[in-house]
Amino acid sequence: MDEKTQVNLISKLQEVQANTGYITEHAIARISSQFDISKSKIYGVATFYTQFRFTPAPKHCIKVCLGTACHVRGAEKVLETLENELGIGCGGVSSDNKFGLERVACFGCCALGPIIVINSKVYSRTTPKKALLLLRKIK
Ligand code: FES
Repeated sequence: MDEKTQVNLISKLQEVQANTGYITEHAIARISSQFDISKSKIYGVATFYTQFRFTPAPKHCIKVCLGTACHVRGAEKVLETLENELGIGCGGVSSDNKFGLERVACFGCCALGPIIVINSKVYSRTTPKKALLLLRKIK
């Protein structure tokens, strides 16, 4: 696959995800015909990038920064607390699709860490206790 095709493919995948929230099997099949590329190659490209989802997004997306600055300020404990409370591991989604938990390398506001982001809202200087309070507010 040449570079231009790959760029167009990524752009198409982004468009599909923006419209439907995730990449469906049906969309992969349609794109395969449109671009004349095998479905396995499309999956290969799509799975390389963490931006693409293959299941519906959870109602509440919780991202915990585990970058160096947040890590040294206790982010692992914050993540562990959320994992225990939600009963899911990092990268997991609750069985009711209400909560998703992800780790992020850095949000770019390191001095305020540990940082967690819940549904695009940033929370700074989190602690396990603060994380639990935030989670219980949206439960
Ligand atoms: S390391 Fe967490 S915001 Fe940068």
